[in-house]
Amino acid sequence: PLPDRFNRPFAVPPVKRPAGKADGATRYEITQRAATVELLPGLRTEIMGYDGLLPGPTIKARRGERVIVRHRNELTVPTVTHLHGGHTPAASDGYPVDLVLPASGSYGHGHQSHTADGVITRGVRDYEYPHDQRAATLWYHDHRMDFTGPQVWRGLAGLHLITDDEEEALPLPAGDRDLPLMVMDRSFGADGSLAYPSLDPNLASIPGVIEDYSPGVLGDVILVNGVPWPVLEVDAVRYRFRIVNASNARRYQFALDPAPPGGTAFVQVGSDGGLLTAPVEHNDLVAAPAERFDVVIDFSAYPVGTEVTMINKLGVGSTDAVLKFRVVRKAADESSIPAKLSTIEPLRPGPNAPVREWRFARERNEGRAHWRINGLDFDPARMDAEPRLGEVEIWRFYSDLHHPVHVHLDPFQVIRRGNRKQGQYDAGWKDTVDLRPWETVEVAVRFTEHAGRFVLHCHNLEHEDMMMMAAFRTVG
Ligand code: C2O
Ligand code: CU
Repeated sequence: PLPDRFNRPFAVPPVKRPAGKADGATRYEITQRAATVELLPGLRTEIMGYDGLLPGPTIKARRGERVIVRHRNELTVPTVTHLHGGHTPAASDGYPVDLVLPASGSYGHGHQSHTADGVITRGVRDYEYPHDQRAATLWYHDHRMDFTGPQVWRGLAGLHLITDDEEEALPLPAGDRDLPLMVMDRSFGADGSLAYPSLDPNLASIPGVIEDYSPGVLGDVILVNGVPWPVLEVDAVRYRFRIVNASNARRYQFALDPAPPGGTAFVQVGSDGGLLTAPVEHNDLVAAPAERFDVVIDFSAYPVGTEVTMINKLGVGSTDAVLKFRVVRKAADESSIPAKLSTIEPLRPGPNAPVREWRFARERNEGRAHWRINGLDFDPARMDAEPRLGEVEIWRFYSDLHHPVHVHLDPFQVIRRGNRKQGQYDAGWKDTVDLRPWETVEVAVRFTEHAGRFVLHCHNLEHEDMMMMAAFRTVG
């Protein structure tokens, strides 16, 4: 039985305190461990969490602040940590075979076929983030080859926010009127355990999920910041919400019910890669896995006492709503949404810009579904492209079904979707783009600064685990 919706208070994940400063860097220590938490009322759920939390603690950093996060793996499976949206040196980006083996136990080399291609450590690993990038809503999550889906599903995901002077100078809602909405769907067994249809429940050697779930694993409980369908009491003022779709495979179409009388539901101020140049109004907001939308909702449009539900028009039954706002009082509001938010340098590919084509398609291999790019399974030892640092390239993504395509290292700009210049959700710097069935999306991308191995992949985590990933090496 599903819990009642809208009777638990909204919560924000705790902000992680630094462990100290050393050599000009801020140091954090996170322990990845099993924990038992109460996600559903009265039931105990075993998770794998950063610091034993779901979601993990939020890391807050400033542009240019060098941060070192020491991850300690006290789980029983290998892990890899990736900062999604981070402009991160290759050694710290979480290449899918750069495993951190459990601190204790017998998990050794050779347990997994690709370990030879990665940089393996046991117990701990320091991930270094120079944060040489704009203010943006990032998130970190597990990225272990073949097992990202189940490991994120069990809890290995958290927020990572970067701020900068430009963002702070804007009059946008701030402080406790600037809130994350990390949205993830999950399914539970009757005993409260997280249900995930792995082929290999020990997450040891066989990747993927049982055939019926191969399009992607969906849950029937919607968690916002780890709370099922919470209620948030708001003043009748503007709030900024950083929406992160941290679901394995679910796409959402968010809207407000009732819609604000005479207004727009969401004013988008930021995307995956930070502030837009100018606000974009939406009544509906479609978010594919891993996409972020930074939006302002103005509750002053509603009479005090109104209950406003953030609904999901792509959901049915229990997944047709996400959370509820209760407008409780009038209050002063100094915030505003400026007509100009930021500047974005348009990436202009030259006439001889390299063009790379990436075809995302389902194929069958030995009777089982495989999700592939350009007809190939992911191989971490094979480099599928060698872009030059500093050069603008055109990347063309072709799709058979829905695939949210994510590129590591640097964000891109959508320059064509089908036969239009851009779709309505494509503004600004993106690192994940929602490919729709039989659609071609063209982006301009320029990798900078960090030479080494990175990946691009479908961020439907089941597709990713079932080989829909490619590797590239940036060269100086
Ligand atoms: Cu959010 Cu390669 O991942
Ligand atoms: Cu996909």
